Amino acid sequence: MVCECLQVTECQLLATLTQGEVQTLRDLRQATGAGDGCTACHHLLKQYLQRRT
Ligand code: FES
Repeated sequence: MVCECLQVTECQLLATLTQGEVQTLRDLRQATGAGDGCTACHHLLKQYLQRRT
């Protein structure tokens, strides 16, 4: 589980990232819904974005 608030899993996140249409944290939030709660997972989401590029 990457984002507890929105119940977004690593699996969902990686699937979205491999579709290639997600460039920024904001894109990722819009695509998965992750990060729209407490924002504690934002550093994790950024790591996933960086690792992909
Ligand atoms: S854990 Fe992702 S917004 Fe709270």
